[in-house]
Amino acid sequence: MTEQRQRIYLDNAATSFPKPPSVYDAVNEYQTELGGAVGRGATQVGARIQSRVDRCRNRLAKLLDVASQQHLFFTFNGTDSLNLALHGILNAGDHVVTTCWEHNSVLRPLHALATSRNVETTFLGGDELGQIDLEQLKATLAKKTKLVCTTHASNVTGIIQPVKQVVELAHAAGAYVLLDAAQTVGHFPVSMRELNVDFLACPGHKGLLGPLGTGLLAIRPGLEVELPSHRQGGTGTTSESESQPESLPEKYESGNHNAPGLFGLEAALGWLETETVEKIHLQGQKLTKQFVEGLRALPSIETYFTDGEPDRVSLVSLNTDKLEPQVLCSLLDEHFGIETRSGLHCAPRAHAEIGTQARGGTTRFSFGAFNTPEQIDVTLEAIGQIVASF
Ligand SMILES: Cc1ncc(COP(=O)(O)O)c(C=O)c1O
Repeated sequence: MTEQRQRIYLDNAATSFPKPPSVYDAVNEYQTELGGAVGRGATQVGARIQSRVDRCRNRLAKLLDVASQQHLFFTFNGTDSLNLALHGILNAGDHVVTTCWEHNSVLRPLHALATSRNVETTFLGGDELGQIDLEQLKATLAKKTKLVCTTHASNVTGIIQPVKQVVELAHAAGAYVLLDAAQTVGHFPVSMRELNVDFLACPGHKGLLGPLGTGLLAIRPGLEVELPSHRQGGTGTTSESESQPESLPEKYESGNHNAPGLFGLEAALGWLETETVEKIHLQGQKLTKQFVEGLRALPSIETYFTDGEPDRVSLVSLNTDKLEPQVLCSLLDEHFGIETRSGLHCAPRAHAEIGTQARGGTTRFSFGAFNTPEQIDVTLEAIGQIVASF
């Protein structure tokens, strides 16, 4: 193997790197020039901070096409958003339908709710395209189901799920839909109104290109009546009252905000508005095609659902019968400076579905807004050299 030192970051499905330069500038501006709390004072600096946080919410509401920006709440990551929705909406004895493609940030809250509230979960399998089995969904919804919870795109296969059909079936059966958009927002156009989902959860630090520690939950107006606050505390409003305020977004935003994170996220959203998600998606599709075609020329590489249909986000999982996923990941990092992610990707059922659980999962390559065709070429060359040396 010829050694080449560089850094090629291909783990954007975990968190995106690098961020646009304006994100670092905004975090730095907050940390070095402002530094006050959000919504907690009447100073001039306080007003500047508040207006940037308001603009962040406004930009998110626009990007995700939500019905009301007051119904979009800041959280600390995708997991936090999903926990808020799942623990809030599911009550004792409820039935929920979810899928084999889910992340542990859905699977574990549902597991906990099975014990604490006797919530019953039905898991949908996948079809030959890597999508949810809609026939199974129809049959399952015959039960009294409170919620259907689905990922928008699998973080193992990248396949986009048929959300509109899921919503039609769920709503016809009187169930709500919670969409885990962790792998789509910023990579693929997402309109909450068009998809017609009731809850949309996502992080701010993946495709949205904000800092770690940012996320959001958007809900259909009216659902706040059914969704209790998950934590109670200071909101900077109605401080004389012992009860959590019912006003939005304060009901769900207790305690100090992650102000540096939100400053960074706001700047990232400005960058995304100029670049456009459509352009980033197109670029991601091109990189994925280049990667998949390059892999076809290599011996003994297996990929999952990469034949072109249905639409996907820009990540590819692969295996080679020559070495374990973890070994490939380590060699790419050690010898070529290429950072990928191996293992089960916190989605054990997805790996059971594609038959990779027993062999330790896959090695995942996930592309972001700053990856280039040259980096894909270097990565293909590196995989080729590693596989040839075994
Ligand atoms: C599909 C999916 N859902 C949820 C999450 C959790 O997001 P976070 O890491 O922001 O908690 C991830 C993270 O990888 C994910 O891929």
